[in-house]
Amino acid sequence: MKKETYGFAAILIMFFLIYPGMINAQDISLPSPSRKGGMPLMEALNARASARLFSEKEPSLQQLSDMLWAAWGINREADGKRTAPSSRNVQEMDVYVTLKTGLYLYDAHGNLLKQVHGRDIRALTGTQDFPATAPVNLVYVADLAKRGVKEGQPVTDTDLLSSWANTGFMAQNVYLWCTSEGLSCVIRALIPREKLEPEMGLRPLQRIILSQTVGFPAQQ
Ligand SMILES: Cc1cc2nc3c(=O)[nH]c(=O)nc-3n(C[C@H](O)[C@H](O)[C@H](O)COP(=O)(O)O)c2cc1C
Repeated sequence: MKKETYGFAAILIMFFLIYPGMINAQDISLPSPSRKGGMPLMEALNARASARLFSEKEPSLQQLSDMLWAAWGINREADGKRTAPSSRNVQEMDVYVTLKTGLYLYDAHGNLLKQVHGRDIRALTGTQDFPATAPVNLVYVADLAKRGVKEGQPVTDTDLLSSWANTGFMAQNVYLWCTSEGLSCVIRALIPREKLEPEMGLRPLQRIILSQTVGFPAQQ
């Protein structure tokens, strides 16, 4: 083999080793978020509401992209800052997405949904009945390692305060986007965490904060 070929192979191997964001066949590549238009803000605030009756119709990929960008997308590329604030800009939050086709992690930098696994665990995101059949349930997860909590150290309420606040901002962004787009949603704390955490394969310092069901309103 020529010297250049060895060099190329080495670069390729290094790339695969150091770039964990590689796209797999099961990942969902999202179209660029729209970042324009929508309902005037005051009208969206006036109409914002929780709803719990969902049709099984799936949102389009463009809608998924726009919704996730509203939740936790990057709006200032120069310094990687987001559509929702985070305490000290630690950005410890992750948005997981449960769909019929599996569990995904939103990668805002790559604008894609990285598949965690291919099982439908929507029913496990809530103790109510509608999460099982609604097309999308977001799960807001804090990675406390990013907040400086050490493994084996007890997790205190204070460690979690910022993550709860961060989640509130993200969820409200989704509420307003849903209102603008004619979709329904509800933020939820009623989550069977002891069942969901192992199904999501979370690391010890990852904590589920809240879940949010999103979908089209059911025809009544
Ligand atoms: C922290 C938090 C947790 C909530 N948990 C649930 C829940 O588990 N299930 C649910 O159906 N609604 C839940 N809600 C939604 C509230 O019930 C809802 O916001 C409230 O009834 C007011 O209605 P509105 O959002 O339409 O103004 C939660 C809201 C918040 C802020």
